[in-house]
Amino acid sequence: MKKLVAILFICSLAFHGYSKENSSDKKWWKEAVVYQIYPMSFKDSNGDGIGDLKGILSELDYIKSLGVDVIWLNPIFESPNADNGYDISNYRAIMKEFGTMDDFDALLKGMHDRGLKLLLDLVANHSSDQHEWFQESRKSRTNPYRDYYHWWPAEKGKPAFRPGNFEVDGSGWRFDSLTNAYYLHYFNFRQPDLNWENPKVRAEVYDMMKFWLDKGIDGFRMDVIPFISKDVNFPIITDKDLKEKYNGDWSQYIGNGPFLHQYLREMNEQVLSKYDCMSVAEGTGTTVQQALDFVDADRKELNMLYHYDGVNYGYLPGKFKTPDPKGYDLVGFKTIYSKWDSVFANKGWGTIYLGNHDQPRMVTRWGNDSPQFREVSSKMLTTFLMTMRATPYYYFGDELGMSNIKFSSIDEYKDIESIAMYEMTKNKGGDLNEFIEAQKITARDNSRTPFQWNAKTNAGFTVGTPWIKINENSKTVNVAIENKDPNSVLNYFRKMVQLRNTNKTLIYGKYELIDKANPNIYAYTRGEGKDKILVLLNFTKENVNWNAGGKGVLGKKILINNYTDLNLKKHTVELRPYQAVCIQL
Ligand code: GLC
Ligand code: CA
Repeated sequence: MKKLVAILFICSLAFHGYSKENSSDKKWWKEAVVYQIYPMSFKDSNGDGIGDLKGILSELDYIKSLGVDVIWLNPIFESPNADNGYDISNYRAIMKEFGTMDDFDALLKGMHDRGLKLLLDLVANHSSDQHEWFQESRKSRTNPYRDYYHWWPAEKGKPAFRPGNFEVDGSGWRFDSLTNAYYLHYFNFRQPDLNWENPKVRAEVYDMMKFWLDKGIDGFRMDVIPFISKDVNFPIITDKDLKEKYNGDWSQYIGNGPFLHQYLREMNEQVLSKYDCMSVAEGTGTTVQQALDFVDADRKELNMLYHYDGVNYGYLPGKFKTPDPKGYDLVGFKTIYSKWDSVFANKGWGTIYLGNHDQPRMVTRWGNDSPQFREVSSKMLTTFLMTMRATPYYYFGDELGMSNIKFSSIDEYKDIESIAMYEMTKNKGGDLNEFIEAQKITARDNSRTPFQWNAKTNAGFTVGTPWIKINENSKTVNVAIENKDPNSVLNYFRKMVQLRNTNKTLIYGKYELIDKANPNIYAYTRGEGKDKILVLLNFTKENVNWNAGGKGVLGKKILINNYTDLNLKKHTVELRPYQAVCIQL
């Protein structure tokens, strides 16, 4: 009897919320496919050459037709656009190029009417230098907004080095003669860092988040959120410290501020927990060891995080975003994604992506964008993204197989990063040719060119002059053509999303890497026991035989295949170049 009482007691504890949350617990955001749109380049409704909210509204049926669930929009707020919206001058107003608050309300309604959810970009590590807070802050040392930012009085000498991305001299401090002080900016000087150690700043950010959540948005993607907390003594970080403690990577130092997790818990308690919303951190500088600190549900911080280990793989050390000319090694690639899967084996939840607005086009970087293999390798990469145990963040245009534009002159670039790094290379007497060649593969502008709707003028994106050049392959790579072709990259994406949406094993099922040392094939299974799916991905442009082992796969059901046929032998699967298949075992 006593035993029974004890068991009942434990059950009721579990029932009343004392239980721990596991990765296998069902949540809508684990089952969602996120589709990311770079608003500047999706669809222009008024002919000024810049994409806008009305443009997105006019194409919601297209987005719905993809089968995706959530739309993430890059920043749509008022901004002088030093870094294309990642420098916000008013968090509660819409960027004038993108439209009005009425347009926003209509867009949100249009999405919700179609069962689509909306994720906005929270850029709160820094604001624009044109933000009223900063304009006030710089006026005098006693201004009420002074402590909204990090200032270092010049009479204390020069502050210890901090990196400023997008700065030609690489420094994260800018001297302002008006008050004889330096201010901190981890990005460009037009993006001063907000002082999160000031409770007033945190309250402003939480209020602003509530403003958008009360309007009905469904969550936030959080820009460089690991950077928010700073050691305000700004100690000297020596090269030796950096190497030994932070793997030589500044973002690992910056992404681990002293009160980071305290602030995230506070944000959760005051804002996120009050809404049925999702949150995803840009995990800049976050390692596998730290990931659960953000997303273990019991810690009550965030839902998901996306790491950089995958997309930074295959670059030459010590050079700015320069890919190894030998290409990347698939075994290392598999190791990274398998390691990141294992982090969330029991708790938390992962994300998966190969492209976004900070990365080049996935087919150019990870597949093969030559005419012969562009389509099939795009489909193969899509298969990878949709069959991992993680929420896919899929970048607009990848569903068409859009590829890098590969500008050959710095004059064609619009991105603050490419322009600053070019100048830096020049000033250091570096090899500018090598820089431009590397940028053809890795520059961010490659993925920011306008979406390709049809073969008409400007790919149907605008009737005006596009803000950035359009890829010439838009004549053949576009929605109009691909819609009509059942074997197009676009229709393959739709099928693949459908397969994931209707197959819980592809969402929650256990991931197991098999044939780990195979340098050509990425093979893994999802699920367990009777419900197991085999995923085979040929990452090469050659035919490759894959050894299926004892029982083989003859007679098993093929769930999806990016070719019209599959050559199955008793013990081998003959995979064609970039072939991808999912087989129900
Ligand atoms: C993030 C954004 C990137 C931006 C930077 C500064 O990395 O994704 O586009 O330039 O933060 O806000
Ligand atoms: Ca426009």
